[in-house]
Amino acid sequence: MAAFRARPAYNRAMTISSPSAQNTIRPLPLSIGLLGMGAVGTLMASHWRQHRVFALPRDQTSAVTLNLYLPENKPAEQTRQWQLPCWQGEPLDWLVVTTKAADTLNALHPWLGGLPQVKNLLLLQNGMGQQQQCADWLAQQQRPLRLWAGISTAGGYRRAANNPQGSEVVYAGTGQTIAGRWAEENPAADDNKDSTPLPPGIEATSDIHHRMREKLAVNAVINPLTAVHRCYNGELISNPLYHSQLQALATEVEALYRQLRWPLPQPLHQRVQQVAQSTATNRSSTLQDILAGRPNELEFICGYLQQQAQRLGHTLPLTTQLMRQLMQA
Ligand SMILES: NC(=O)c1ccc[n+]([C@@H]2O[C@H](COP(=O)([O-])OP(=O)(O)OC[C@H]3O[C@@H](n4cnc5c(N)ncnc54)[C@H](OP(=O)(O)O)[C@@H]3O)[C@@H](O)[C@H]2O)c1
Repeated sequence: MAAFRARPAYNRAMTISSPSAQNTIRPLPLSIGLLGMGAVGTLMASHWRQHRVFALPRDQTSAVTLNLYLPENKPAEQTRQWQLPCWQGEPLDWLVVTTKAADTLNALHPWLGGLPQVKNLLLLQNGMGQQQQCADWLAQQQRPLRLWAGISTAGGYRRAANNPQGSEVVYAGTGQTIAGRWAEENPAADDNKDSTPLPPGIEATSDIHHRMREKLAVNAVINPLTAVHRCYNGELISNPLYHSQLQALATEVEALYRQLRWPLPQPLHQRVQQVAQSTATNRSSTLQDILAGRPNELEFICGYLQQQAQRLGHTLPLTTQLMRQLMQA
């Protein structure tokens, strides 16, 4: 496991508070670039308003206005709007990518020339596969950046709004955001000297691979099933047919994890039941994407597990069948 010295940021709690409520001990501001200014990007940028945050927009020139709606706040404080200047190659402590998994390399590519100015690159996304693709791409481009991966349980979604941008992000729930070094082996010699804190709201973990695999296992059961049945998460428990499919799919994914020697902290069917129950009235992100006509991330969830299975000569018949059904839908 890579040793790293990233100190947890001083503002760790995933609540969005007013600047006056934040800690009074202020280290130097971080400079942070944000690539992907959708739901998660906007939530994260809201935590970072005390820092120098730059936008990396598609057109590579315009400043970006972010709009956040905080339903839990008093009416006068529910809407928050602020602007991020476009990054012009200033040195960055962090470049944080919050695009969907499939967009990672396409989004990074136009900024290749600026990467020598970046100390740490954090991919804060669901799914797996894009992290190693990114590590390989950086190596090919001879851009030896410190690559991090992160996951978040914070929730937000975009919706149309009556502002000049025509949209806003609704802050749908607090959660935990964790990140750790992606490269487990042979960390660059200067890694141990780096003491750049993580961006506020993100906690450092030394076992990000395990944490991501645990999340992936749950998503690999709940997401395809809710997408095929177009149902809320809770229906995977309340509907006997869906429940039996949930059990069978959990067994299939768990068997692969055993072969891969990826330990899970508890039986997967128990874990997915807990998650389906505690998020009973939610729609999975895959179902939300399908209903909105957007590309979904199943290739980086189930597709990634299919690749792992193929590598071992193992098959995942239920996963394959669900993926096929979704492609035909
Ligand atoms: N939303 C949540 O509650 C949540 C929670 C936990 C984890 N996640 C994960 O976080 C990641 C981001 O999700 P999200 O919900 O924030 O997605 P999102 O709202 O769709 O935001 C993605 C953003 O990336 C931008 N983008 C895509 N390609 C780009 C490019 N080439 N250059 C610049 N920007 C580009 C998109 O711009 P356009 O709109 O112009 O395409 C969009 O603003 C996903 O992996 C998701 O699974 C989401």
